[in-house]
Amino acid sequence: MTDKILVTGGAGYIGSHIVIELSAAGYAPLIVDDFSNSSPSVVPRLSEITGHDVPCVTGDIRDRRLLAGTLSEHAVAAVVHCAGLKAVGESESRPLAYYDSNIGGTIALAEAMADAGVKTIVFSSSATVYGQAGSNPIAEDAPLMPESVYGRTKLMIEQLLRDLARSDPAWRVALLRYFNPAGAHASGRIGEAPSATPNNLMPILAQVGAGKLPEIAVFGSDWPTPDGTGVRDYIHVVDLAEAHVAALAHLQRAAGVTTLNLGTSRGYSVLEAIAAFERACSKPITRRMAPRRAGDVAICVADASAARVTLGWVARRGLDAMCADAWRWQLHRDA
Ligand SMILES: NC(=O)c1ccc[n+]([C@@H]2O[C@H](COP(=O)([O-])OP(=O)(O)OC[C@H]3O[C@@H](n4cnc5c(N)ncnc54)[C@H](O)[C@@H]3O)[C@@H](O)[C@H]2O)c1
Repeated sequence: MTDKILVTGGAGYIGSHIVIELSAAGYAPLIVDDFSNSSPSVVPRLSEITGHDVPCVTGDIRDRRLLAGTLSEHAVAAVVHCAGLKAVGESESRPLAYYDSNIGGTIALAEAMADAGVKTIVFSSSATVYGQAGSNPIAEDAPLMPESVYGRTKLMIEQLLRDLARSDPAWRVALLRYFNPAGAHASGRIGEAPSATPNNLMPILAQVGAGKLPEIAVFGSDWPTPDGTGVRDYIHVVDLAEAHVAALAHLQRAAGVTTLNLGTSRGYSVLEAIAAFERACSKPITRRMAPRRAGDVAICVADASAARVTLGWVARRGLDAMCADAWRWQLHRDA
């Protein structure tokens, strides 16, 4: 029988790409999403791309009754947990909302899973758990010192899931620390669609290219990097999604907790990313050099070798593909 996989936040940017790759790998994905940062219009697009009906339950993961009903009605085999709030700046001004949604949501989910006997979970963690502490490239055993409320919620959820797995060896947990997801599905039908002004580099570049934003602010031109701008490890969202499929397969073989970085092990500066986007959209991108932001780091690049060894997975798509796919999505997103 086809395994049913619940993707929380499956209508969001990363979750929607995971739904597609799960379906392509022969799983039957279903979604729980409250659409607080996504649109219901994503769901029919997912059915169109996958060629399968993608069931979607509208609701909040903190609603235990809704989760219990969903897990039992659909006989879910495992969960990919993407739902949560993710804006670093907002997390500083609304800490309780972030602790409630991210940690409260995960507790409600884990309780409902335990009650239903579903004890396999892949969690969307983040490189922000490392904060300033890591030397580069960052391996999984680097010190964990998140700088923001958002990062602390991610680290607390990791600890919560580790404690759960220690208390009951039936749990199988993958903690996947994403570096900088970027790009979109090659169809141009789904991509990153933030409800508010985007915080991430690629959607800002796309909106500047489309004339919806006047310019991109480059925070810091005096970092100790070759061109003075910050260096990040951008990973194509489809590569990221494929890693989740590999993680689920791994959890069938491995009990306990698996913690992995998901990146390319290759860094690009902000100026290199802008140049790549200019190539993709064939337009100049207006930029404004601005002072460094508090909490930013010069370089954040993954040592992704553990994911290669453990999952047999490597990121295959480069920065030009990320920019081309993000631009295609920008041009076609309203079609
Ligand atoms: N995008 C990134 O740069 C990045 C980097 C590292 C980690 N992550 C993590 O990956 C996950 C997915 O990120 P994304 O970029 O796809 O974000 P997103 O906002 O596009 O997707 C999250 C989805 O979860 C839903 N959601 C939020 N709170 C919910 C709740 N309480 N109940 C039900 N649904 C809820 C939203 O409506 C949205 O569809 C998040 O946990 C995020 O913290 C993202």
